[in-house]
Amino acid sequence: MGKKGREVVEGEVDLLIKELQKAHADEWVAFYYYTLASEVAEGRTSPMIIDALKDLAKDELEHASELAERIIELGAEPTRNFAQLTETANYPEVKLPKDPKDLNGIVNAVIEAERGAIDVYNNLLKKLMREWRDPVTFHIIRHIMQEEVAHEERMENIL
Ligand SMILES: [Fe+2]
Ligand SMILES: [Fe+2]
Repeated sequence: MGKKGREVVEGEVDLLIKELQKAHADEWVAFYYYTLASEVAEGRTSPMIIDALKDLAKDELEHASELAERIIELGAEPTRNFAQLTETANYPEVKLPKDPKDLNGIVNAVIEAERGAIDVYNNLLKKLMREWRDPVTFHIIRHIMQEEVAHEERMENIL
């Protein structure tokens, strides 16, 4: 992004970038665990749950890309070191149940992760309005949050 594009962000841009890097790491963590859950549960559980896990994983990967794009526009980079993703993330793990047949446990773990994401994005949106006053990032985060809300609802409806 050009000079003027960066200047529209008020307040401390570095802090905004840091928050976006954390959210980016969260999305990769969610993508990984949801994909893992769909594979582990494959053949053991209903196609409805597998489909939901795969759909959500796909969305989280898209969110990671959208966040990465914005981080780069702001003149920074997403986490380069893969091992550092879990150190950067707000939520480094989706706590899947030990028993792969525990469907409720899987669904509940995903619901908990989605609620964490909704919290993170809700706080970010408030700060984007009050502190950073950055309409471009606001628009991106608002769109992502809307999908997290839909994710929570979809998984709640499975229970
Ligand atoms: Fe996401
Ligand atoms: Fe999600």
